[in-house]
Amino acid sequence: MDPNLRGQWSSKIGFILAGAGAAIGLGNIWRFSYVAGENGGAAFVLVYLFFVIFLGIPLMIGELALGRFTQKNPVGAFTTIKNKPIWKFAGFWGILTCLGILSFYSVIAGWTFGYIFKMLSGDAYGYQTFVSDPYVEVGLFAVFLLFTAGIVYGGVEKGIEKWSKILMPLLLLILIALIVYANFLEGSSKGLEFYLKPDLSKITPKVILSAVGQAMFSLSLGMGLMITYGSYLSKKENIFVSGTSIALLDTLIAIMAGFVIFPALFAMGENPEAGPSLVFVVLPKLFVNMPAGQLVGAFFFILLSIAALTSTISMLEVPVAYFVDEKKVNRKKIVIYATIFTFIMGIPSALSQGTVDFFTNFGLLPKSLSSPDFLSHMNFIFGDFAIVLGALLLSIFVGWVWGTKPAIDEINQGSMKFHKIAPIWAFFMKYIIPIMIILIFLSLFNIF
Ligand code: PHE
Repeated sequence: MDPNLRGQWSSKIGFILAGAGAAIGLGNIWRFSYVAGENGGAAFVLVYLFFVIFLGIPLMIGELALGRFTQKNPVGAFTTIKNKPIWKFAGFWGILTCLGILSFYSVIAGWTFGYIFKMLSGDAYGYQTFVSDPYVEVGLFAVFLLFTAGIVYGGVEKGIEKWSKILMPLLLLILIALIVYANFLEGSSKGLEFYLKPDLSKITPKVILSAVGQAMFSLSLGMGLMITYGSYLSKKENIFVSGTSIALLDTLIAIMAGFVIFPALFAMGENPEAGPSLVFVVLPKLFVNMPAGQLVGAFFFILLSIAALTSTISMLEVPVAYFVDEKKVNRKKIVIYATIFTFIMGIPSALSQGTVDFFTNFGLLPKSLSSPDFLSHMNFIFGDFAIVLGALLLSIFVGWVWGTKPAIDEINQGSMKFHKIAPIWAFFMKYIIPIMIILIFLSLFNIF
């Protein structure tokens, strides 16, 4: 994909795969299981699914439509329709959010990459030593960011997409095998109960915000990414069907991951509320006891690293598309600047898991919103708060500023059947989504 040329996806399936590549990543496996574990398990899952369907899918369609209509990056997309400071801000907000997420996401992606070698050496333990070694942490973070930058710099995303076409079905297969294996472990049924039997009294404003945040994060919504991807779509494309397919595939993978992690976790007597370390503690222990576990484990982390890479590429693509489109900056130059910026922004996260006390016990936000470490703060600020605010701005923009009528006209091109549900979609965009998000924010800040 080369925004210098405003390229287009070569085929329908090409777009679905690239969109799915952006959506499927650490969010589905690492973040989903740790956030679900922290927020009460099944009750969270229920709320999460609710938001994928009623908020995620309509927003996905809205973002793609805005992108295809304007053929622009987020800032360009908002301001071509309405050139007002607030909408310019909305576009920039998305770009900043992408970089903020990229900064801590690449740290976790670095762990994933490091775990390939950890698995190969047969060392399933020692998570804490691993994450608190400054050289390992900053080194792996830098390596992963450089991979990402190298690919976007060389404009060879297409090559990666080809690879992920082959590799992502393998991720699905491994997950199926792991589900079977984990659920035969003694004591695993308690985990299934935790995952599937909702205790509705556990639903608090924080759980709801986390579930919306997770739904949006996992679908890569609320930061202009799907606007950017939509801008590469042709008018023949069925936004409705493609957008929904991406959302459902992404959700399926997250739900499957939960069927591995929670049974395994309870069988091993681990704590579901362990936070960001969750999958890095639980999964390796699952692998070591499996037949050929070292290889299965290494292979799993290879696949997860690639899934993470297709996501980080997409995150870097958003600021790059903006500077190339609007500021006519040389693509390669901006890749370098954006990477340096992200690297600096990510260092505190890389040093926040026991390395540097200040970042480990950062504690700026109340405990009820985020764990004290810097990485968790970034995760909350960019991964929950910023994208939910981004989604609010987008729904107001599409619902009231651009207007649902032109938006529907755009979606109808290429989507024969969309007109049947268009009024429902418009109602969600205009009323349900903004009201839901405003209520969530109000209750979060204890306004009620
Ligand atoms: N959706 C990706 C995941 O689940 C993360 C992501 C966030 C990608 C924001 C792009 C933009 O891993």
